[in-house]
Amino acid sequence: MRFVGTALVLLLTACASAGTSRQPAPEAMGTLAQVMRGILFTNSNILFDVQSIDPGNPPPADASGGATARFSGIYAGWQVVENAAIALGEAANLITIPGRLCENGLPVPLSEDNWAEFTQNLKDAADVMLVAAEARDQEAASDATNNVADACYFCHEAYRDAPPRCTP
Ligand code: HEC
Repeated sequence: MRFVGTALVLLLTACASAGTSRQPAPEAMGTLAQVMRGILFTNSNILFDVQSIDPGNPPPADASGGATARFSGIYAGWQVVENAAIALGEAANLITIPGRLCENGLPVPLSEDNWAEFTQNLKDAADVMLVAAEARDQEAASDATNNVADACYFCHEAYRDAPPRCTP
């Protein structure tokens, strides 16, 4: 019994130290604009397609091109929409990593209260979209694209489109 207790303590200690020391700290790799172009732009366009293309009845995969076209049928239909919604929700986490810069070298304005609010709006919109995608409901998913577009728009109005870009 005592042996089991000791082994358990050792196991827990090992897990705790692995958890604290082995994980690399989150670190920004690109500017905010690059994250926007690489993740938010591409995935939100997948979501906006739901307005005109029924994910339950997608066009046939194009087998002629490179890897993107060839493997486009592997994760298909509503799963693509789910994945794009998740990518946007995860992107909300990414844009809160400390130390990221905007394209002009200024820091991402993480300390501004409405930055947190705009980021939360993005997460919430991604959640609404995910629920609609899981329900395989094209009408609800089309409606949810408005939440997504609003989440992009309100943050851009404050921090992208009005000079000075990014930092107040
Ligand atoms: C919390 C704030 C915030 C949210 C939410 C947000 N953006 Fe952005 N976005 C910015 C800022 C600030 C910039 C300017 C970044 C820079 O200059 O480095 C930007 C830049 C961009 C760019 C680059 C434009 C260029 O100059 O090439 C694209 C594309 C973009 N956003 C798309 C989106 C889309 C699509 C969404 C929604 C799905 C979104 N963003 C949501 C703040 C936000």
